[in-house]
Amino acid sequence: MTNRMSNYTVSIHYDRRLYKQDIAGSIAHVRMLARQSIIETEEADSIVSGLEQIREEIETGVFPWRNELEDIHMNVERRLHEKIGQVAGKLHTARSRNDQVALDFRLYAKDAIDDILKEIHGLRQSLVFQAEANARVVMPGYTHLQRAQPVEFGHHMLAYFEMFGRDAERFHAAKTTSDSMPLGSGALAGVPYPIDRASVAEELGFSKISSNSMDAVSDRDFVLAFHSAASICMMHLSRIAEELVMWSSDEFNFIRLADEYTTGSSIMPQKRNPDYAELARGRTGRVYGNLMALLTTMKGLPLTYNRDMQEDKEGLFDSEDVIKSTLIAMKGMISTMEVEGDNMRQAAYSSYLLATDITDYLVGKGMPFREAHGIVSQISEYTHSKGKLMHEISLDTYRQFSDLFDEGVFEITVDSSVLARDVPGGTSFSRVELAIKAAVIELEEENDE
Ligand code: ARG
Repeated sequence: MTNRMSNYTVSIHYDRRLYKQDIAGSIAHVRMLARQSIIETEEADSIVSGLEQIREEIETGVFPWRNELEDIHMNVERRLHEKIGQVAGKLHTARSRNDQVALDFRLYAKDAIDDILKEIHGLRQSLVFQAEANARVVMPGYTHLQRAQPVEFGHHMLAYFEMFGRDAERFHAAKTTSDSMPLGSGALAGVPYPIDRASVAEELGFSKISSNSMDAVSDRDFVLAFHSAASICMMHLSRIAEELVMWSSDEFNFIRLADEYTTGSSIMPQKRNPDYAELARGRTGRVYGNLMALLTTMKGLPLTYNRDMQEDKEGLFDSEDVIKSTLIAMKGMISTMEVEGDNMRQAAYSSYLLATDITDYLVGKGMPFREAHGIVSQISEYTHSKGKLMHEISLDTYRQFSDLFDEGVFEITVDSSVLARDVPGGTSFSRVELAIKAAVIELEEENDE
């Protein structure tokens, strides 16, 4: 085989990222072998100290990475041999690369999820911060991207707080899926040594051991769980990114992004392009792609391990990098953006946002809702044709549409509309205040965990 072809199977250029987990897994394994008298204690001590030196070499950048050794497992094992000699060969007793890589990647996924959960927490803090800082800022709420009803800006921020809260739950669930210790499964059938799997699981922080060796070496559900949590979270990030792009445009002018999150144009001096938000939106596709790629890789594989499964790693590393950096950038954008409360309020006033409230007003006077809806829709047509807003027409004009109208109709304002929505989950000031309090408590509880 030519050198060029043998490179085909190499994964060391990316799976070296598993070095910490690989070494931690080997240390736990070899200590267990000694406890079970499968190897001598001195042999285990020598292996452990060799592995610790290797970790040091990797972390200080002096480790001799070798392509011809294909992957992280072989690179570490060969180096151990160079350092401690023949006894290094005992490390792989009662183990296969199949259960070894299954272990390493589970450990890695759990660590990656912990990091991501921290960033989700940070982003949710920034959303609550903006909700609190802009208490009582009223803006148009939209459906179909048409101004629909007034809402509090904090209510809008807290909608995302909810979404990212569900994302955190999904990542917790993905972590639970990863939390099963596969060592002891061997290549596929288990190993013929008196090993103690439970103690390895405990040492490595797993809450349980896998129950079926064939499943354990061929299962990548935990990676898929990661990807699906990441994909949904990126979808949420992409939606808020899109709102930031729109809100910062001259057409909306609802927010001003901090300088550090905008870029100028090489030709148009006035530009403040929202590149960070656009890239957050744009990178979402990559994360979806990584989910689809692994689903496709796994779909036709017979049990148990197949080399195809080596393709599981780059996608997870990539999605991990994208989602972490996007969460950090989004937190930065949200916490530093300037909210143009006056423009939001202005937009809420200078439109037909109160149509629903005027309808409800007629309902309050005893008119059936459907009839009131029809009448207010006629008023809306009429004012539109006159180039006026609803609160700009006279009581006489209102009364031409229904004699149930009286002066009270002019008490309907953007604020009264918001205040009226005083139901759990609604946008009234007091409800949003309660929601902010609940959000703060939720974040504090997460801090205590
Ligand atoms: N680099 C391989 C992977 O990531 C390790 C397992 C190799 N096992 C084997 N039997 N070829 O999947």
